[in-house]
Amino acid sequence: MLAVAVLAAGKGTRMKSDLPKVLQPLAGSTLVERVLASCSSLAPERQLLIVGHQAERVEQSLAGHAGLEFVLQQPQNGTGHAVQQLLEPLAGFEGDLLVLNGDVPLLREQTIADLLERHRSSGAAVTLLSARLEDPSGYGRVFADAERNVSAIVEHRDCSEEQRRNNLTNAGIYCFNWPKLAAVLPQLRTDNDQGELYLTDTVAMLSPAMHLEVADADEINGINDRMQLAQCEAVLQDRLRRYWMAEGVTFVDPGSCTLSDGTRFGRDVMVEPQCHFRGDAVVGSGCRIGPGSLIDNARIGDRVEIVYSVVRDAVVASDCAIGPFAQLRPGADLEKGCRVGNFVEIKKARIGSGSKVNHLSYIGDAELGENVNVGAGTITANYDGVNKHRTVIGAGSKTGANSVLVAPINLGANVTVGAGSTLTKDVPDGALALGRAKQLVKENWQAPR
Ligand code: UD1
Ligand code: CA
Repeated sequence: MLAVAVLAAGKGTRMKSDLPKVLQPLAGSTLVERVLASCSSLAPERQLLIVGHQAERVEQSLAGHAGLEFVLQQPQNGTGHAVQQLLEPLAGFEGDLLVLNGDVPLLREQTIADLLERHRSSGAAVTLLSARLEDPSGYGRVFADAERNVSAIVEHRDCSEEQRRNNLTNAGIYCFNWPKLAAVLPQLRTDNDQGELYLTDTVAMLSPAMHLEVADADEINGINDRMQLAQCEAVLQDRLRRYWMAEGVTFVDPGSCTLSDGTRFGRDVMVEPQCHFRGDAVVGSGCRIGPGSLIDNARIGDRVEIVYSVVRDAVVASDCAIGPFAQLRPGADLEKGCRVGNFVEIKKARIGSGSKVNHLSYIGDAELGENVNVGAGTITANYDGVNKHRTVIGAGSKTGANSVLVAPINLGANVTVGAGSTLTKDVPDGALALGRAKQLVKENWQAPR
């Protein structure tokens, strides 16, 4: 039997943020989401999240997380006090308790599985994760013998000069035999520099207490301030890029690009410098993205080219070419082989296959058929100040440069719109529509003197 408890009640004072620390984002997921994900494959019988500071906000952010029990810690009097709150919900529980710090987000699933396995096979009362850090300042130090038996953990601020030279640090990840931990939890005292109840003090009260050292010290990076947040982001970004390079994606300048967990690539994608992928960004095979593009929660087909453009909550089918300097906003839906050029904005509009919107246009709340040619500077005037209205353009139609289509309006198939037209009425199939003042020419005209 396994229960998992994540400590997420602290304020995160050193972040200097209105957001609770465990809700800070890292590669598009919050710290606490990452910590929960890192142990989901263990399929624990119970999952408990200790909340306190801005508890409601933390709970709301995890509303979709099935089977999570929220335990309130009020006030927040230290990590030991946090785990004391489990005495009631876990009364009678006979299994192991895995305790995870909510601010240690880089742990790999395998590392946690190894910890649990080691704990169970050794029969220890507690097994904790440790690492040798080049700079262990701020972390608790683990005092142990060569057989990995731990005698105590001393917090950095409570350490003597001599003790600080020990660089074996506590990761904040522990596997406890719950009945044994439950027996000593009430004995914790606040005789330390912070006057708090420390979970780490239980280790000296339990025996045997063992530690397991992680191979990759990056995994135990804890986040207490924005510098550490940035360092963890860098580690995660590096992991994500390495993963996708191994899957056949070329990054011309990997360090200049960022990815999210939800980013997916097909084979032979070329990512040029300064590209950013957020949310569920799915990119098909053979695409060339960038330089300088943001793909946020969008689905991109195969062999698509996107240069210096922003694509957000949009769908782009195969063989399209976007940019430079285009913006596809939510609801833009491009069918196969479209071309969207410079200074074009498309919102909530379906663009039929083979259509071109090449220069300086706004297409919003619209439906375009196949092979429509939208002339330079064509605007769908979709907003009357109160409501949005639709524009429909049939297959094979062409709009002249600088056309304004005042919605609601319906242009049929194979319509031609003269340049500079402002159209307010529907146009039937095959028609030419002109909506502009007739040109006046006065020959040999003398300017007034
Ligand atoms: C803690 C460990 C330290 C370890 C480090 C690893 C203790 C006493 N120290 O120190 O040995 O090296 O983590 O990152 O445990 N929390 C609560 N309730 C509280 C206080 C904290 O839920 O009353 C939560 C926080 O939200 C956070 C976690 O516990 O997610 C750790 O708390 P934090 O104050 O950051 O501990 P550290 O000083 O980093
Ligand atoms: Ca911490």
